[in-house]
Amino acid sequence: MDTTALDRTRTNPTSISHTRERIGLITEAARRAGSYVANAPHRPVYPPRDAVEALAAFDTPLPTRGRHAREVLAELDAFGSAATTVVNAGRYFGFVTGGTDPAAQAAAILAGAWDQNAGAGSPVAEAIDAVACRWVIQALGLPSTAAAAFNGGATVANLTGIIAGRDALLARAGWSVARDGLQGAPRLRVVVGDEVHASALKALRLAGLGESQIERVPTDAKGAVDADHFPQDTDALTLVLLQAGNVNTGASDPFAQIIPGVRERGGWVHVDGAFGLWAAASPAMAAQVRGVDLADSWATDGHKWLSLPYDSGIVIVREAEDLHRACAAHAPYIPFAGNSPMNKGIQISQRARAVEAWAMLASHGAEGLAALIERTCTHARRLADALAAGGAQVLAPVQLNQVLVAFDDDVTTDAVLAAVEEDGTCWAGGTTWHGRRAMRLSVSDAATTADDVDASAHAILECWRRVRG
Ligand SMILES: Cc1ncc(COP(=O)(O)O)c(C=O)c1O
Repeated sequence: MDTTALDRTRTNPTSISHTRERIGLITEAARRAGSYVANAPHRPVYPPRDAVEALAAFDTPLPTRGRHAREVLAELDAFGSAATTVVNAGRYFGFVTGGTDPAAQAAAILAGAWDQNAGAGSPVAEAIDAVACRWVIQALGLPSTAAAAFNGGATVANLTGIIAGRDALLARAGWSVARDGLQGAPRLRVVVGDEVHASALKALRLAGLGESQIERVPTDAKGAVDADHFPQDTDALTLVLLQAGNVNTGASDPFAQIIPGVRERGGWVHVDGAFGLWAAASPAMAAQVRGVDLADSWATDGHKWLSLPYDSGIVIVREAEDLHRACAAHAPYIPFAGNSPMNKGIQISQRARAVEAWAMLASHGAEGLAALIERTCTHARRLADALAAGGAQVLAPVQLNQVLVAFDDDVTTDAVLAAVEEDGTCWAGGTTWHGRRAMRLSVSDAATTADDVDASAHAILECWRRVRG
């Protein structure tokens, strides 16, 4: 970069050297990041033991005197890069996450240099936030008049949707949480499915809604709420939590059968769609979440299927007023802009997460997004078929991008999980589902190819063969 123009307009030598150092570091970090990405496909997916042990190098006392930032970056790369789990090279099947989309990653680097506080006082962050929110709502087929907000992940998005619903239900009953708090408020009834995600339970607890007021509805063999057992006596003080995408099986609750009745009786329906909500973005998969658009609020993740950097979640609320009631903040030194990110979520100051979502959606378009959803679902079915052909037991039909398999018995399944981690061809997590230990494989990485699927299935079956001896 030519910095002479900079030198001409600035006369302060400290400022010039500070800016030059920043430019040099950004360039160096980008070079190292590029080389990390180039090497990633050639490394074991889970870091080798010696690389993990070498992390002890970071464990020093707080230095009294600092070092040059270049040296710090070099140390981070030397010890840190080697001990990463390779999530962005197509063979990481853990949790429900994959690699970051290239356009989103590049946008994050640029937005990092912009250094904007999206919460207040950044025209570009607010403008892109408005567009990205609109695009997300449209991609998910949700009501165009709904309000959306970016935040730190599905747990935060769940919490935001839940407090919007809590405050709206209480407001309709004549109780203002802002004025009178929660103590002495009318008691809410909360209804969840038996396989509700821990994130939603945590969010309920943070919202002041405890276990004793939560009712659980039985789920079926796929892990979706059984509509026949759903209570028909919910009322105007009932908050219902449904799920788009069971974290083990990918199954979604029968929204079309449940939501209309709950809303007619005055209740609020929040949907935890951390990853499963994105099925709505694909014409081929949308039937999985039929009726999800009927709810009052939705939570989803950016850092799962949408392939945005961590930590990125999105809450969507049907009526903007309900989101603002729960989240608006006023301070005399902050100009009040109703739709600013600070009034749509829990954080005030925040980085411009919407920029990454905008970049991803701008670079893929609606068709590219649908193709990503469909491709990963196809790979999930291929993976399940290959494992089943090798004798593994597929525990639930593959609905979306999740594959759940067991090997002989619980002890063997855990041994296969450990062997796969050690082998390094791919990585998958463990879980317990319907009383059985299982391997959970989530195909969430846009980089995954059919070859990755075949090589991973082969490696897993080999590990099983070795475990059996
Ligand atoms: C259904 C569901 N809800 C919530 C979460 C939590 O998401 P996060 O870790 O982004 O808070 C997950 C994560 O896997 C999930 O699958």
